[in-house]
Amino acid sequence: AIEAVRARQILDSRGNPTIEVDVRLANDALGRAAVPSGASTGDAEAVELRDGDPRRFHGKGVATAVANVAGPLADAVRGLDAEDQAAVDAALIAADGSADKRRLGANAILGVSLATAKAAAAAAGKPLYRYLNDDAARLPLPMINIVNGGAHADNPLDFQEFMIAPIRATTFFDAVRLGSEVFHTLKKSLAKAGHNTNVGDEGGFAPAFTTADEALRFITDAIAATGYAPGTDVAICLDPAASEFYRDGAYAYAGEGVVRRPAEHVDYLAGLLQRYPIVSIEDGMAQDDLDGWRALTDRLGASTQLVGDDVFCTDAARLAKGIDGGYANAVLVKVNQVGTLTETLSTVDTARRAGYRVVMSHRSGETEDTTIADLAVATGCGQIKTGSVSRSDRTAKYNRLIRIEEELSGQSQFRGDLAW
Ligand code: PGA
Ligand code: ZN
Repeated sequence: AIEAVRARQILDSRGNPTIEVDVRLANDALGRAAVPSGASTGDAEAVELRDGDPRRFHGKGVATAVANVAGPLADAVRGLDAEDQAAVDAALIAADGSADKRRLGANAILGVSLATAKAAAAAAGKPLYRYLNDDAARLPLPMINIVNGGAHADNPLDFQEFMIAPIRATTFFDAVRLGSEVFHTLKKSLAKAGHNTNVGDEGGFAPAFTTADEALRFITDAIAATGYAPGTDVAICLDPAASEFYRDGAYAYAGEGVVRRPAEHVDYLAGLLQRYPIVSIEDGMAQDDLDGWRALTDRLGASTQLVGDDVFCTDAARLAKGIDGGYANAVLVKVNQVGTLTETLSTVDTARRAGYRVVMSHRSGETEDTTIADLAVATGCGQIKTGSVSRSDRTAKYNRLIRIEEELSGQSQFRGDLAW
């Protein structure tokens, strides 16, 4: 049973405060979880509670969320069986009482939820992925970030994320190796062309590109120069995060200096697919442009993975609506968009039943916490997006997955295939 719940403020990868929660059980087992934070958040996300006191952390402090853990949330779960995750999460949701967890904070609630699961796993003497799924064996194919733009970098690039999927890899470790090799080739070619090689929030390079074409040319060339066939060995994935540049019913590309109506924007994305070996586009359309989402899915959904992030916000009901409406064919899963482990797993189930693919995901603000690596294996979701192969907040997840693959030696499964 849960005996003690504590929380503290720690720092995330952007230097902002975030919440870390410790759950201790009566048998002394300890679970600890730190909560991530997004920059290009969806409108329908569960609400992250920030103090708003300008004298502390420029208003971003989470002291209130910490107090909510120590007070009402601890009171709600004390004495509950940590193995009954559904009951614990239901108690947290009831204690908050709001529809979007704004009263006590989704960050406070998620911290308790994940720390409870980790305490229960520790009590069972199992790693989290094994505690959650006795048959867990499947390692995810990583979508590895290599160029940052949008809200994640200070360059003029409109699209937020350019990633590579090492589809020729035969093991998870091999995928990371291919990713690292291409990353370093790209660094050299950027430097040679006179671009800066500083990295953005997710560890990908952030040169002063103004167009997606420029980034995609460099990436395709870097794949080839590393000795891999673009599209056959290593493919490209995009997250334009289109909600961020959707204004007044159109897509305003500030870097390029053009505005595209939704139909023109869909044409533009289709054109990129013809010119470059792109296999997945996340948030190609804005969260409010549902007609656009349907148009994009009708046009490209049969051949291309279309991942809904802002449009679904990891919410099972929103996803179910999207499935009915024919938006996207995959869902991005971010634990802090919904705020409990139980709700996260329910969204994964909803996607599976509809044949939608599932991509486990980090946030742009992360910590050394590696829970999502275990969740990717526990759910066997097949794909993970957790940033570049640089910056410890990103590599912590890759390194955790490398260790899990070793732990599962002989039984681990991996395919360099988005569809498996
Ligand atoms: P965020 O971005 O964590 O800054 O919201 C990640 C994404 O859009 O996928
Ligand atoms: Zn996204």
